[in-house]
Amino acid sequence: MKKPKIITIDGPAASGKTTIAKLLAKSLGYCLLESGAFYRLVTYLLLKHNLYEKFIQKNLNLIETLSKLFSSVKINLTAEATQIFYEGREIKSELREIQVEERVSVVASIPEVREFIKDFLRKLVNNRLVVAEGRDMGSVVFKDAEVKVFLTADERIRAERRYKEKTEKESLPYTQVMDSLKKRDQLDSTRKVAPLTVPEGALILDTSELTPKEVLTKILHHLEKV
Ligand code: DC
Repeated sequence: MKKPKIITIDGPAASGKTTIAKLLAKSLGYCLLESGAFYRLVTYLLLKHNLYEKFIQKNLNLIETLSKLFSSVKINLTAEATQIFYEGREIKSELREIQVEERVSVVASIPEVREFIKDFLRKLVNNRLVVAEGRDMGSVVFKDAEVKVFLTADERIRAERRYKEKTEKESLPYTQVMDSLKKRDQLDSTRKVAPLTVPEGALILDTSELTPKEVLTKILHHLEKV
């Protein structure tokens, strides 16, 4: 099997990207790059510093604000996780809070944010072997990646997966989870810059009826052929 430098995995929310990317990174000994975490981080930091409204209304210099906020950010990439540290403290559960979840698509649709994160991710990866998961990994950020995967799954199944994941930590009505997922899909697929699309040449897998192990096996088979 050839060792591609970058393997991209894109797809809508709760299509299984993170689970699969993690399994794949572990089995190949690659680093895991969870790109959604960076859009979540921007959203979290804007809320934390009370800059969210001003930022989305573009009432401040966006790139300058992002550069300033990111000057205190450190990243550690392992096969298991993309670890994010802000002012020396690991930020993890904060990125999954509902306030962040409900605003992240809006933040991710701002061209300056996408440009900033794209440059940041390219620099971060440098020469490492990575499995990069997100919405535009294969179509924009790592357009030249030799192996691209696109995961899909039935909307109802994705909502159930997200609901299970969320209600492990907090009690939320199912309809709220479903609505938030739909809204996010809609915004992520229709935004002007880097909308969620199937990258050219990607292996498309519907994970609705597959276990994570079955998905992994299919990707490993695909890797043997490229
Ligand atoms: O994968 P996730 O749920 O952590 O992603 C959070 C949000 O970030 C999602 O609503 C869309 C956005 N995102 C993006 O626009 N581009 C990426 N490459 C990854 C995520």
